[in-house]
Amino acid sequence: GTGGLVDRHGRVATDLRVSLTDRCNLRCTYCMPPEGLAWLPKQEILTDEEINRLIRIGVEQLGIREVRFTGGEPLLRPGLVGLVAAASSLDPRPEISLTTNAIGLARTASALAEAGLDRINVSLDTLDPARFKQLAYRDRLHDVLDGLAAAQAAGLTPVKVNAVLLHGINDSDAVPLLDFCLEHGYQLRFIEQMPLDAHHAWTRGRMVTAEDILEQLSAAHTLTPDSEERGSAPAERWLVDGGPATVGVIASVTRSFCGACDRTRLTADGQIRNCLFAREESDLRTAMRDGATDEELADRWRIATLGKLPGHGIDDPSFLQPSRPMSAIGG
Ligand code: GTP
Ligand code: 5AD
Ligand code: SF4
Repeated sequence: GTGGLVDRHGRVATDLRVSLTDRCNLRCTYCMPPEGLAWLPKQEILTDEEINRLIRIGVEQLGIREVRFTGGEPLLRPGLVGLVAAASSLDPRPEISLTTNAIGLARTASALAEAGLDRINVSLDTLDPARFKQLAYRDRLHDVLDGLAAAQAAGLTPVKVNAVLLHGINDSDAVPLLDFCLEHGYQLRFIEQMPLDAHHAWTRGRMVTAEDILEQLSAAHTLTPDSEERGSAPAERWLVDGGPATVGVIASVTRSFCGACDRTRLTADGQIRNCLFAREESDLRTAMRDGATDEELADRWRIATLGKLPGHGIDDPSFLQPSRPMSAIGG
């Protein structure tokens, strides 16, 4: 076949999210249990060459224009700088970004920028060291803050900060996080927790909603809707105190944005997922290792895209949480 990644609802995937590892050095409760998980066996993880090849096919044959590296924690992958360099040498050159917890970023931010990384999104849920440890089971707040500053200094901008609020842990941190981001020039987005935790313990009742968050922020700041075109972006944005600074809310659950989705995902073990919540995956790793040509891999990827469901279906009575947790899908 020819052409891009089109599904039966007319959506076209141009944004590829590549998970580089299922491992992480934090244990954020909404993503991974404190004891960790059964990690993917090494031989099932794609090599750097295999990842480069699939990204190249995506860009050259399937219309991918943006490549985002995720995890697990992508900074744990030794070859990350090389993967960024390979992606940035493609024609047409995709936009290249990274979603990370920023631990260790202070050491690699400038090398990543030189390799062609354009920008970075950092997960940070609280500025209180005790709460950070309670939420992530590791005492690493300072490493994260150092990493953020290094990203900014290396020009990996706009630096975005992602925060998930959890009832009873960091639900009063919305305003302090916003003030911190305003002070440093980071673009903050709050994310509604999705049912992707390892223990399948998510409930709608325990989720801090977009409405809750906007109410908290409005008590301290004036928010006005940002008139800039949202496109396929998960975040809805507001100008803070008249702008130009903005704050975003990614309301995946209460205001889902699946109708405009332009994303396709490659897991660390070489499976294409057409949606975060996909019930099925397409195994490009086995096909590739069995000798599939670029054209055959591109065709498999197109077929895997066709059946993408119109929405995540979290509200359906028959909703089933994916068997992989967030850390193994790649947020
Ligand atoms: P930019 O806005 O381009 O910087 O990226 P992004 O917001 O898509 O990426 P990021 O990795 O920072 O993701 C932020 C949050 O949005 C995470 O919680 C993601 O899981 C969520 N998210 C990203 N893509 C999707 C998606 O396709 N569906 C849903 N439901 N959530 C998504
Ligand atoms: N719900 C919403 N966001 C999540 N993230 C991880 N797990 C979840 C979840 N269950 C976020 C992280 C990171 C981004 C890639 O996904 O905070 O910023
Ligand atoms: Fe796209 Fe699925 Fe996310 Fe909806 S839930 S925005 S369809 S990846």
